Amino acid sequence: MAKEVLVTGAGGFIGSHLTEALVRAGYQVQALVHYNSSNSWGWLSQLPIEIKQALSVTQGDIRDAEQMRSLSQGKELIFHLAALIAIPYSYQASRSYIETNVTGTLNILHAGLANDCRVLHTSTSEVYGTALYVPIDEKHPLQGQSPYSASKIAADMLAESFYRSFELPVTIVRPFNTFGPRQSARAVIPTILSQLLSDKETLELGALSPTRDLNYVANTVSAYLTVAESGLGNGEVINFGSGHEIAIGDLAELLMKLTGIHKPLVSTAERQRPSGSEVERLLCDPNKAKNIFNWESQYSLEQGLELTIPWLRDNLHIYRPESYTV
Ligand SMILES: NC(=O)c1ccc[n+]([C@@H]2O[C@H](COP(=O)([O-])OP(=O)(O)OC[C@H]3O[C@@H](n4cnc5c(N)ncnc54)[C@H](O)[C@@H]3O)[C@@H](O)[C@H]2O)c1
Repeated sequence: MAKEVLVTGAGGFIGSHLTEALVRAGYQVQALVHYNSSNSWGWLSQLPIEIKQALSVTQGDIRDAEQMRSLSQGKELIFHLAALIAIPYSYQASRSYIETNVTGTLNILHAGLANDCRVLHTSTSEVYGTALYVPIDEKHPLQGQSPYSASKIAADMLAESFYRSFELPVTIVRPFNTFGPRQSARAVIPTILSQLLSDKETLELGALSPTRDLNYVANTVSAYLTVAESGLGNGEVINFGSGHEIAIGDLAELLMKLTGIHKPLVSTAERQRPSGSEVERLLCDPNKAKNIFNWESQYSLEQGLELTIPWLRDNLHIYRPESYTV
């Protein structure tokens, strides 16, 4: 019988790719999308019809403990991706980050415990803050440089505590920056591409010197599938990144080269983060993932960008390159 699984955040960028891959791999997927009165399934609505027909989609809210408990009944595995993720918006609405990312995760952990589910909890490389050494392994200190990262640190610690206190089988999947089709405009690659491909005269960005370890979304999805299928890694935090870094300014130059569209690069004050909050450097040490799961990134940065550029060109109408998306 097919494994029954719950995916939270299924309507989001990574969640929609993961949901599609899980259906293709033969899982029976219960997809949770954030409730909205227009009955939008988020990015799930763009999936091929045969995938949508194989899905069970529920609207809801991870802040609702009773709903999470009942949705998890009969599931073997919960892929927990739902979160508020934008760093600039976390400066404006920090309480909502605690309610969604911390309390919401607590609800998922309790739901897993009540229904005997294994949980793959999603962390983020943002929890490390600016690298104190590189490459960043899982022993690197955690630094709360934004309310977003603080809320994810708290959620990760709750997940770890449920393993230690209650033996909940939970793995903390810690992706570094992920990119690809269906990513929101607040992320750096859609920000650059949507401005390059539009009729805007300049390319506006925030700080150009910070570096990121950018991983194509298919690599991140394969990380979840590998962890799920191996059954290994309970109680562990695992980094998933490419092991390469690139500065934002150099990324902009690379995208200009790949698109053949060159525009003057302007760093605007509006797009800068407060200096103590900006994460200056992220570079993943993916060796633990390699050693435990034999997982490695399959797509390079350039290969991922070559797949992302045509998608963004075809979907440019979704983006608003003339304004700054928080
Ligand atoms: N994108 C990245 O580069 C990246 C890197 C590392 C970790 N992550 C983590 O991966 C996960 C997915 O991120 P993403 O990039 O796909 O973001 P996303 O914003 O596209 O997806 C998050 C989803 O969670 C949903 N959500 C928000 N609040 C909810 C609530 N209260 N109840 C139910 N659903 C709710 C949103 O509607 C959205 O569909 C997050 O946990 C994020 O922290 C992302």
